[in-house]
Amino acid sequence: MYILGLTTLGDSAAALIKDGQLIASVEEERFSRKKHHSGFPYNAIRFCLDHAGIELKDVEHVGHYWKPWILRHKAMQAAKAALVSKEMFKARADRGVAQVSDSYLGMFKHPKRLREHFGPSNLKFHFIEHHQSHAASAFFVSPFERAAVLTWDGTGEDTTTLFSRGRGNKIEVLKRIKLPHSLGQFYSAVTNFIGFDMFAGDEWKVMGLAAYGEPKHYDFFREKVLTTNGHGDFKFNIRVLDHHLAKHYQFPDGIVRELGPGRQKGEELTQHHWDIASSAQKALEDTAIYLVDQIKEMTGEENLCMAGGVAFNSVMNGRIIHETPFKNFFIQPAAGDAGCALGSAYYVWNQILDKPRDFVMTNAYWGPGFTNEQCRKALEEAGLKYETLADEMLLPKVAKMIADGAIVGWFNGRMELGPRALGARSFVADPRRRDMREILNHKVKLREWFRPLAPSMLEENGREVFGVEHHDPFMITVIQVAEQYKDKIPAVVHVDGSARPQMVNRDANPRYWNLINEFKKLTGIPMLLNTSFNVQEPIVCSPQDAINTFNNSNFDALVLENNLVLRKGSNE
Ligand SMILES: [Fe+2]
Repeated sequence: MYILGLTTLGDSAAALIKDGQLIASVEEERFSRKKHHSGFPYNAIRFCLDHAGIELKDVEHVGHYWKPWILRHKAMQAAKAALVSKEMFKARADRGVAQVSDSYLGMFKHPKRLREHFGPSNLKFHFIEHHQSHAASAFFVSPFERAAVLTWDGTGEDTTTLFSRGRGNKIEVLKRIKLPHSLGQFYSAVTNFIGFDMFAGDEWKVMGLAAYGEPKHYDFFREKVLTTNGHGDFKFNIRVLDHHLAKHYQFPDGIVRELGPGRQKGEELTQHHWDIASSAQKALEDTAIYLVDQIKEMTGEENLCMAGGVAFNSVMNGRIIHETPFKNFFIQPAAGDAGCALGSAYYVWNQILDKPRDFVMTNAYWGPGFTNEQCRKALEEAGLKYETLADEMLLPKVAKMIADGAIVGWFNGRMELGPRALGARSFVADPRRRDMREILNHKVKLREWFRPLAPSMLEENGREVFGVEHHDPFMITVIQVAEQYKDKIPAVVHVDGSARPQMVNRDANPRYWNLINEFKKLTGIPMLLNTSFNVQEPIVCSPQDAINTFNNSNFDALVLENNLVLRKGSNE
């Protein structure tokens, strides 16, 4: 039985499962080449169907990650905002009207849209609550028979934080926190206060900058903005910092009195901004830990699954793993809304159809893959000279080039699901070179100096590098690097001594494991610097995308499966 799962607004995506096994899942942005593509995921659906060799008529059920009729709570929030200020009401009402007319009500037409575009089908269409899709995306593909499940994001229909418990093939909702109390909206509002752009997904930048600051304003954030009350709840005080006003870069007097005016775009980043980032990050972490402790108390479970945009905060995740009483953790690589496509498909299979669970997500490689022949055809069409080498020749050669300073575009197997490149569409470079971070950020990726870069490393070497075992195949937790190791890999150690490693399992990605191992043989270092293969655009998907990026930017070599292209003038 085939089930399709869909995310159809921000970070649109599709997923296809067959008899409970994941077959394919991909974000629409990889095809449309528009970051965070919002809209019906036609291309992603087409890929899923083609990959399985089926048509829409073969799909029996479709799970959709949102219930468009839950709008009452949002309308209430807009009405309440009118009591606070005219600006606040306007910011909410404008957005509310636009959302109702264009986006949410449009969801009712999705079944028709599907049939018009992909042909007739008797499929049954299920609208599933957003946070339950998130919860399903985490628990149903986790290795756990039972677990506490915590999902948190900007907002779903009205819920921003959901406490649930998963047992076998069912998830039971225990408690909800609703708008305006939202950890995601808090963090996005801070993002804009520091002069970045929440709509571009700039929350990563706040987390990166936080390590450079001191949490000088922590008390202000915890006492006035994000408070906890001893009953397992948190409150986001929108009179002091409001997400909707922040979208328009407007900030209430309450925060301006304490922190001064928000930073203008392009204004110089100073210690003051780093301190704000550090304070907000710590406020988020401590609130999160408080909530995790609550769900532990509520469930008594040993395992914790997390999803929702907030679960991308890898520094927060690192603290949750080390400071809360849960023994085991699972976050899948598309923890944000794209993963809801996967979640809603599994919600239908397990929760609605009551089928048993028989799938664990051990890797992220669910997107398109290309043969050597397809890669060569693209290279020939682009007029690029290449050399085709068997892995025994290619991998040592590429490892040597990296050790000699080359930055390599590495295109290998099926593309990753989720925002992290995990060795399928990655730039790889030498982590030992102190200047490599700056070269990559400035010259290749054309982005801010403070963005940390992360290592992909052999899973077997965790203890040597961190002093403890660490198992995170999806690069979603930050961990401190062992003191004696920090100087060996300066390009991938953040200013606070931490790293966000991908632990590469030999079975999950043998070619990537082997490449890293070849680098280890040459240098003694069991890791490569890894950052996503893209320059100011979505991660490359096809050989053609990779070639375009190679032609338009500044890195030394391109590996398309077994085909190696060297940039003229680069040192081999
Ligand atoms: Fe979400």
